[in-house]
Amino acid sequence: MRHLLRPFYRRFWNDRRRRARTLLRFAEVEADGGRDLVRAAEVTRDPTLRRLFLIHAIDEQRHAELFRNRGLDLMRGLPAGGGAEGRADWLAPGERGLDDVRVEQERDASLLAFLHLSEKAAARDFANYVGILEGDPPTREVFEKVLHDESFHMNYTHAQLVRVAPGDHRRLIWLARLRRLWGVYLRFASVLAGVIGAVVLTLQYFILLPPFALMARRAQRKEPQGWTAIAPDRNGALGRQY
Ligand SMILES: [Fe+2]
Ligand SMILES: [Fe+2]
Repeated sequence: MRHLLRPFYRRFWNDRRRRARTLLRFAEVEADGGRDLVRAAEVTRDPTLRRLFLIHAIDEQRHAELFRNRGLDLMRGLPAGGGAEGRADWLAPGERGLDDVRVEQERDASLLAFLHLSEKAAARDFANYVGILEGDPPTREVFEKVLHDESFHMNYTHAQLVRVAPGDHRRLIWLARLRRLWGVYLRFASVLAGVIGAVVLTLQYFILLPPFALMARRAQRKEPQGWTAIAPDRNGALGRQY
């Protein structure tokens, strides 16, 4: 699938403005993920995990800076306004971080399982971008640096998951996978609901409104033109405001 979509990925990344915007979007998500990890470090009771989560948070903050700086560099050479419209984020997913996971409500093991899958997906996507961006060595270099850290994140989360939940880690990874799938379904369902809403409103506009417009036009024709004298009993002095 990834191979089939490669020409589309390439086209997506070829556009300088879109590349810059995508990097700035990645920077936001990385910084957000860093903040979630600081929170995870605060709430865990495991000292090893606390130390690793803090190192991880610092990495994500560094990624945010790398993406932001490169995105701004790309933006600087562009004419103001205009350019490629439409975000098509699905063609260029970045790191998902902890998405909508509420860190405080998670146990260490389920958090690690979720993080592991998230880092694995990020490592796969970033490796893909490294292969595509041969025409932009500085951006490619950014992805290479980030990819190195994502591989570490992917591996340490798995190793720690095996440590804190020996014998149960496979089930937890499957549960995290199902939760991610559920999240994808919800996102898809909300987009679908938007499309259905737009179609129904458009149909209503073209099917239900015309009869009312016709009736209004007919009523308008019956209305007398110009000024009309009102009845004397309605022409007295105003006794109240309304
Ligand atoms: Fe990252
Ligand atoms: Fe990461």
